[in-house]
Amino acid sequence: MTDKSSIAAGTLGGASVRTQQSAARGLWSSRWVFFLAATGSAVGLGNIWKFPYITGENGGGAFVLVYLGCILLIGIPLLMAEVMIGRRGRQNPDGAVARLAREAGANTKWRVAGWLGGLTGFLILSFYLVVAGWALSYIPTTLSGTFSGVGGDASGELFNGLLASPMRLIVCGTLVLAATMLIVGFGVRGGLERSLRFLMPGLFVLLVGLVGYAAVTGEFLQALEFLFVPDFSALTATSVLIALGHAFFTLSLGAGAMMVYGSYLPEGTSIAKTSVLVALADTVVALLAGMAIFPLVFGNGLEPGAGPGLIFVTLPIAFGQMPLGQVVGGLFFVMLVIAALTSAISLSEPSIAWMTERFGLSRLKAVLVSGGLLWVLSLGSVFSFNLWADYQLFGKTFFDSLDYLTTNWLMPLGGLMTVLFTGWVMKEQTVRDAIGIRHGGLFRAWWLLLRFGTPLAIVLVFLNLSGLI
Ligand code: TRP
Repeated sequence: MTDKSSIAAGTLGGASVRTQQSAARGLWSSRWVFFLAATGSAVGLGNIWKFPYITGENGGGAFVLVYLGCILLIGIPLLMAEVMIGRRGRQNPDGAVARLAREAGANTKWRVAGWLGGLTGFLILSFYLVVAGWALSYIPTTLSGTFSGVGGDASGELFNGLLASPMRLIVCGTLVLAATMLIVGFGVRGGLERSLRFLMPGLFVLLVGLVGYAAVTGEFLQALEFLFVPDFSALTATSVLIALGHAFFTLSLGAGAMMVYGSYLPEGTSIAKTSVLVALADTVVALLAGMAIFPLVFGNGLEPGAGPGLIFVTLPIAFGQMPLGQVVGGLFFVMLVIAALTSAISLSEPSIAWMTERFGLSRLKAVLVSGGLLWVLSLGSVFSFNLWADYQLFGKTFFDSLDYLTTNWLMPLGGLMTVLFTGWVMKEQTVRDAIGIRHGGLFRAWWLLLRFGTPLAIVLVFLNLSGLI
């Protein structure tokens, strides 16, 4: 391993003191690694846990269509902008935006677009790790054959039993948090790269297999109709906002994650091409998850709108019936946990890089401080399902409120500031140089979308939701 590539591999994984100095922060060892890391960030619980259950709650087809539109018209242009800002700014999101603002002769207060993202990512991580903990606790449950032969009711009871036990949730959440912090803080060199190399193809193969199984044993046609035939009467203003929020969530946007990953990206990589590929991989995984789950939902007489427990109730029924289901199921939850970890890493990296670069904390201290805070905050999400289930804020538990606030408001807000900054504050020539799209027409299309289309769409959704239009 050359010196450069060892820094590269250690940038996210290792306690590289050199990350404190932007001049020597290190880079990904290749654009392939960047692609893996960005896809690892994008593909996670959002695709497999969240997409199916919010699709179920929001009536299916029409919601999926709006979500796909948001990915295409808002997600991809913004993803490109975030990576570009990171690569040109070469710092944590807060520092990168401030540096580019200075370069453009603008007010450095724009840095709020950076640090707000770090804060958003931190808040998301506090409940994300609790859900990853559910997946973790399902590994032994599945392997031990608990699900063999269970039906919908029994599976639902097993899941509720997990939610009712703060102790189990805390133990599993803490394990996920510890693993995340270990990788971010000291991690095995290249651990991220190595785990991603087998995870992504493995997850994909397993999902395709599950879709096949669901197609044969479940109500496949009814599922396809539910997912892909839009019924616009099922669409409300809130579902549009949820679709927009989910486009942000699933592509890891509006929270500094892609900026910080972009900041380790070598020059010369095509940002546009990579972003499209990341979005494509992410969308395919989400649709596969939907096609694996809904045939089973309909086949077992379950409710599509059952909420956050959907996959944890549905899939075990299938694992309990199929040949070798214990092993297949165990493997599935192992992969889900790893997919969640690679996302959790990207949720924590912006705030960790911020603490080390802005305040000169060592990486170890930054990890300890944020790990401690995250642990305390995660208790709020844990108790939402048991001890505090009856305490509600605007009709939502702590967990739901945090999810709603971050996904539907903070991320779109962060994204809005980022596109406004890129499209209206940065100089066009700077952006043109930084993004590196050689094709003039393509650049113009992106630039126009970024300046007008994307901000307008976000603002319209916000206004619509506040009841102003
Ligand atoms: N995209 C991840 C998922 O779908 C979650 C995630 C990782 C994320 N990093 C993020 C969400 C940054 C918002 C912002 O599971």
